[in-house]
Amino acid sequence: MSAPLPSTFAGIQNDIARALEQLLAPGGAATPDPVLDAMRYTLLAPSKRVRAVLVHLAADVCGDSARALPAASAVECIHAASLMLDDLPSMDDAPLRRGRPSAHVAHGEAVAILAAFGLLNLAYGHLARAYPAPLAARITALYTDAVGLDGLIAGQAEDVLATDAVIDFNTLERIHRRKTGVLFGAAAQAGALSAGANENAIASLTSYAKNLGLAFQIVDDLLDVVGTEAETGKAVRADARKMTFVSFSGVDGARELANDLCATAERALDPFGRRADPLRELARFVAGRRV
Ligand code: IPE
Ligand code: IPE
Ligand code: MG
Ligand code: MG
Ligand code: MG
Repeated sequence: MSAPLPSTFAGIQNDIARALEQLLAPGGAATPDPVLDAMRYTLLAPSKRVRAVLVHLAADVCGDSARALPAASAVECIHAASLMLDDLPSMDDAPLRRGRPSAHVAHGEAVAILAAFGLLNLAYGHLARAYPAPLAARITALYTDAVGLDGLIAGQAEDVLATDAVIDFNTLERIHRRKTGVLFGAAAQAGALSAGANENAIASLTSYAKNLGLAFQIVDDLLDVVGTEAETGKAVRADARKMTFVSFSGVDGARELANDLCATAERALDPFGRRADPLRELARFVAGRRV
């Protein structure tokens, strides 16, 4: 089961869901495996799979999506790991994720942390096995950079440390670009690389995806204020101790900013012409989403 994206993407969402299920197949061990259970619990829960869809669409617009699936699966493993860590009591202390109790609530904190490491490990191992060595190395480097000290980990650290603090607009933008935008950029690049794209195509898609990712996080902040638990599958009004784009720009201003960023993202697709229409549709979904 998947959360709603425009129906254009249902086929890709289903392919990803099947690939993730295979990647984490129970294996029939006689003894229970609590870490595997927790990995399955979060990774296979209903979700949008936006980053995986992005990998696929980036490959497709470059002319060949046949090799996109492992990179798409790996980015979803990385993303799910980041969510499990983000929800921990020491970070956002979030009780609900993907419409269910968060992993640490359901499985305990120790198992949730190990399961998050398990998902990261699974992602990199899968890339190493699925692709010929040069491509595996390039995509792995992309993803490790995106998670690393100039990416998700850095953004997440700065975000957590900014709880109850006053930060300026540029700092907030840097946090959001790093904790969310960089992984979107890497997903698009990975898709393009899997299709053997040229440097110009990779640059256009990276620019599209980084702006899309920032818009995605702005709307996430917005939905914390105007969304519902039923729609988002998360506890809402949870960002009260953080400065967000809504604190700076208000509800309407944040939506406008997201719209502007998605329009900028779409302009980066000009070189692809009409072939990039699915990526344009994804940008419009991100700008207006309520889930
Ligand atoms: C939530 O990501 C975390 C953010 C970076 C905003 P998603 O909204 O993509 O969550 P899922 O994967 O659909 O659950
Ligand atoms: C999380 O941002 C971004 C990550 C990289 C995990 P949030 O903390 O706003 O995400 P949600 O709202 O819990 O999904
Ligand atoms: Mg957070
Ligand atoms: Mg959070
Ligand atoms: Mg949020």
